[in-house]
Amino acid sequence: MLFRKGLCLVLLIWCDVCLGQVPEFYKDVQPIIHTNCVPCHRTGEAAPFPLITFDDVTKRSKFIRQVVSSRYMPPWKADNHFNSFANDRSLSDKDIKTIVSWIDGGAPKGKPNLKAEQDLQARVSAGTAYKRKPDLTLKVKSGFQVKGDAQERFVMFKIPFEMAADANVEAVEFTSNNKKLIHHANFAIHPVADPAIDLHNSVDVVDLSGPDADKYYEWVKYKKEMTYYGGWIPGTTVETYPENMGWIMPKRGVVLVTVHFGPSSVDAESIDGINLFFKTTPIKRKVKVISLGSGGIGEKDITPPMMIFADEISKFRLRIANNQPDISLLYAWPHMHYLGKEFKAYATTAAGDTIRLVHVPAWDFRWQEIYKYKQPLLLPKGAVVHVEGTYDNTKDNPANPHNPPQLVMSTGNMRSDQEMMTLILMYVEHEAGDENLFFKWN
Ligand code: HEC
Repeated sequence: MLFRKGLCLVLLIWCDVCLGQVPEFYKDVQPIIHTNCVPCHRTGEAAPFPLITFDDVTKRSKFIRQVVSSRYMPPWKADNHFNSFANDRSLSDKDIKTIVSWIDGGAPKGKPNLKAEQDLQARVSAGTAYKRKPDLTLKVKSGFQVKGDAQERFVMFKIPFEMAADANVEAVEFTSNNKKLIHHANFAIHPVADPAIDLHNSVDVVDLSGPDADKYYEWVKYKKEMTYYGGWIPGTTVETYPENMGWIMPKRGVVLVTVHFGPSSVDAESIDGINLFFKTTPIKRKVKVISLGSGGIGEKDITPPMMIFADEISKFRLRIANNQPDISLLYAWPHMHYLGKEFKAYATTAAGDTIRLVHVPAWDFRWQEIYKYKQPLLLPKGAVVHVEGTYDNTKDNPANPHNPPQLVMSTGNMRSDQEMMTLILMYVEHEAGDENLFFKWN
């Protein structure tokens, strides 16, 4: 009797210890997965399957163990020693240990708490990756049929909008029913205050690669002003702005969305648009965007001119001075295509300081990101921005679109089998005290 009692006690204590050691799904694992994986692993996003529920995750636990241990997932390509970012989603060693011990310990569910996944499912149904439902969803009038003929396509869509009043933008995201078809997308918000300009009596879609590309001119009347220019590339999620910052969505106008469809081998429909999230607090500082390099300012000053010879690894540089008053940077968004090998951007000041902007040491076209700073990064007037891009046009680059390698240029038409070296910066005008400001990102 005594012996059995003792054994029970030992077992009880042992079990307590083992239960205490193995992390549980709802308490320990789900918060990590929801923060770091679900922005992509949800219906409609770039990843192939959702990772929202207990079943979603346990079904693939072996795979997950492998990809988190090797740090293949979540993808995060920036060099964190060069600069650290607010949206760094690489897992900490502790997070990896939690996930791995949970899987090795038999993946216990723990006390179910369905609220987090129900909230997420509701947002997925509402078609957003942001933390709440959008205040305004703008979609193309009708879906675009992408032919499975392995051709690239540039297509522009017009989305008219009319609201009761201007609105302060807290966040914006590009949306699509099928992001796997898309190489990249951009959207420009054009205000049209004049009621004499009809927003509807022009074409809704123009295939820039097709015979009716000229119809684009029907939209010239809308393009006198531009409020904002944003975009989506594989790997990016929602664009948000810190407290007091953002831009103002005009109450009337059009959104012109440019979608670059990659070659597809199957016929598919693409339904694209943008979601907007408004805030009631005032916008004291207006967010602006500038694009440097290919397709932007200084395109002609890239040295040497962008010709990437077959079977060579080549490096290009751009130096461009900030001629505006001092600015405070929010985001850096580097962009290259398949031949990209390394991307580095920094600025130098007259005083001899170096300001580190972003470094992606092993560029991977699939994982691009809009990098958000933790604090405003001051770019003083006169500072020189340096952009350096290295391209691998040899057969050793598995992403090389040409086999055998061919001469590749930056022709400004943004085709994905040609190249780009672009740095997009989002900023506000500098204010005293920015040195001590920490952004409160959503
Ligand atoms: C930026 C978007 C993004 C994030 C964040 C992300 N994934 Fe992925 N994941 C993808 C895409 C896209 C694929 C498919 C392409 C590939 O495998 O390279 C993928 C593939 C996978 C695969 C299958 C790998 C294979 O070899 O087929 C697993 C497992 C996975 N992800 C788990 C995770 C986990 C776990 C997290 C979070 C810790 C995560 N992912 C975060 C986009 C993402």
